[in-house]
Amino acid sequence: MTSQECVTNPRLFTFVGGTTGLWRITSVKAVVGESLAATQRLDIINGTILLAPDGAQWVLRGVTSNERYATRAEKSLMVAKQTALGRPDATCAALIPIRKNAQWWGLTQDERRAIFEDRSRHVQIGVRFLPAVARRLHHCRDLEGGEPFDFVTLFDYAPADSAAFEEMVAELRASEEWKFVDREVDIRMIRDGV
Ligand code: HEM
Repeated sequence: MTSQECVTNPRLFTFVGGTTGLWRITSVKAVVGESLAATQRLDIINGTILLAPDGAQWVLRGVTSNERYATRAEKSLMVAKQTALGRPDATCAALIPIRKNAQWWGLTQDERRAIFEDRSRHVQIGVRFLPAVARRLHHCRDLEGGEPFDFVTLFDYAPADSAAFEEMVAELRASEEWKFVDREVDIRMIRDGV
């Protein structure tokens, strides 16, 4: 391989908050910690970009990965119920970047799993909202260059399921797991005219 070659991870996604993209941003709210600039649109690119496009206010990146916490039973249940992003009627979306604190990252895997599921019931809460809500989890923590968040979470749903989506995020945010979240921005979007 020469130094000119650029290997792109097919699991890498780039999220550009700016003036272009399928999604029209309707609100940007800091849940905890510093917000992100409110922009007009979100562009989601499967891959990397060499230069931020004109009008971009922020660029986030993350990779999809294998599960860390889900058990076989939980995974099988989700696989049976879930749908992929991009259904024609799923015209509402949420992009929620999240950072967890040093205390969380200092825990061991078994300690984190105990908080994540045994005490916070993350999967148990989430599966109730499948298949109405489709989701994709992106990990950012180990990317080179220092990303501002540990995760970028992306969800889409039909307008009729908006109330259910609010119920789910409220339940998750009230859980013990969320005590370790030290930065979270909730970005809501709609897809119009496409
Ligand atoms: C649609 C319903 C949901 C389901 C079924 C669900 C399921 C899951 C599962 C199974 C994992 C663990 C993956 C693994 O084993 O590594 C996970 C991780 C995660 N989810 Fe959810 N989730 C849902 C909704 C949400 C929402 C609404 C948020 C944000 C507000 C969220 C934020 C996260 C984050 C940040 C992680 C990574 C946690 C970590 O590794 O420390 N999830 N989710």
